[in-house]
Amino acid sequence: MPIRTIIEPFKIKSVEPIRWTTREERERLLEQAHWNLFLLPAEDVLIDLLTDSGTGAMSTRQWAAMMLGDESYAGSPSFGRFRRAVEGIFGYKHVIPTHQGRAAERILFSVMCKKGDVVPNNTHFDTTRANIEFVGAEAVDLPIAEAKDPAAPHPFKGNMDVAGLEQLIARVGKKKIPLVMLTITNNSGGGQPVSLENARAVSALCRKHGIPFYFDACRFAENSYFIKMREKGCEGKTPKQIAQEMFALGDGCTMSAKKDGMANIGGFLCTNDDALAQQEKDLLILTEGYPTYGGLAGRDLDAIAVGLEEALEEDYLKYRIVSTAYLGRHLSSEGVPIVQPPGGHAIYLDARAFLPHVPPAQFPGVALAGELYLEGGIRSVEIGTLMFGEHAAMDLVRLAIPRRVYTQSHIDYVIEVILEVWKRREQIRGLRLTYEPPFLRHFTARFAPL
Ligand SMILES: Cc1ncc(COP(=O)(O)O)c(C=O)c1O
Repeated sequence: MPIRTIIEPFKIKSVEPIRWTTREERERLLEQAHWNLFLLPAEDVLIDLLTDSGTGAMSTRQWAAMMLGDESYAGSPSFGRFRRAVEGIFGYKHVIPTHQGRAAERILFSVMCKKGDVVPNNTHFDTTRANIEFVGAEAVDLPIAEAKDPAAPHPFKGNMDVAGLEQLIARVGKKKIPLVMLTITNNSGGGQPVSLENARAVSALCRKHGIPFYFDACRFAENSYFIKMREKGCEGKTPKQIAQEMFALGDGCTMSAKKDGMANIGGFLCTNDDALAQQEKDLLILTEGYPTYGGLAGRDLDAIAVGLEEALEEDYLKYRIVSTAYLGRHLSSEGVPIVQPPGGHAIYLDARAFLPHVPPAQFPGVALAGELYLEGGIRSVEIGTLMFGEHAAMDLVRLAIPRRVYTQSHIDYVIEVILEVWKRREQIRGLRLTYEPPFLRHFTARFAPL
């Protein structure tokens, strides 16, 4: 019989202890944090699933590359290695480093958008939306209909509604649309992939109307692996070939290297347009740094150059996608409601279905996230009424998996904790807001149990 167990494709050379706390300690800590897990000290968290952004473990090759980092202000060889790695996968003419993804977004939208413009996306990430709105433009989400149903098992639930895009272009006119974006994978839509077929259709429509087409490429490697697994005709391609094929459909991208760059910090902006690149570099110098470092240390550029290649290794991607699915499968087989199918970087608990007796106005997602911390020291994040206000279509709790950080036994522990909370779900109460800041309230809001 062939061996079926999929193991972590690494061994551990350096360990970072994590600290157990008692239930009494956690009760006190949660109260001190006003039931907002952002306000917890990280050392009081046992398993931290707050985000997969910048929280991954670097490889020995990345640490070795960091020692080769050259810190010259201009023309560093680290930038040369970084640029070649990005060019080899993304294929765009200009590569502009930034300190993280949102810096690339700010520069892109400052240069391309003006007041009254409209930017469509499958689903904008919150910083993407905020940067578009900051320049006075409108961010429009155009996910396919299935994306709004947590239980719908669509293989490419991250796809854009192409007919919806066509209608939007007809309604507002192509002159008002400076670019179309496609987020791969669709983070705000549950970490769901976008198919090559969908990207081709979006690209063709953009070409027809002469509208530039950009990718938000944060999780491009995970997206490529889903395509290899699920899209007809792609089985025999490598994730790198799929990524190259995908990016060839566009005119540029923004990227947070804190995700599939496998680095703790960094990002970049790419474009094929010479005139835009010049304007972008001028703005970069003003706020990020010289175009051969863009706010990063030379050693960070080297870590990203290696990380981008490692993110596309099939053994790694298989382990990554299979281990996220493992968490999802073990929860849903016990009846725990999750967004289906499992995405690449996270599992999303459906808090409204988990706690049907807690109305959205009593923050079921925040209440559930608090219970996971109380039960087992797990930190997750609410994506729902707290984050989006009364417009939230769902109340979700995201369990984001840092890259190469936790082993299967950590995930088994997470499953056990969630199942314990599931058993006593009827006793869980909602929360009331005691403080909220004027914007981005989820970071600092405070709560008290009802
Ligand atoms: C889809 C998407 N776009 C953009 C960003 C912003 O990247 P950064 O956090 O590096 O600014 C993120 C970060 O989570 C993201 O998930």
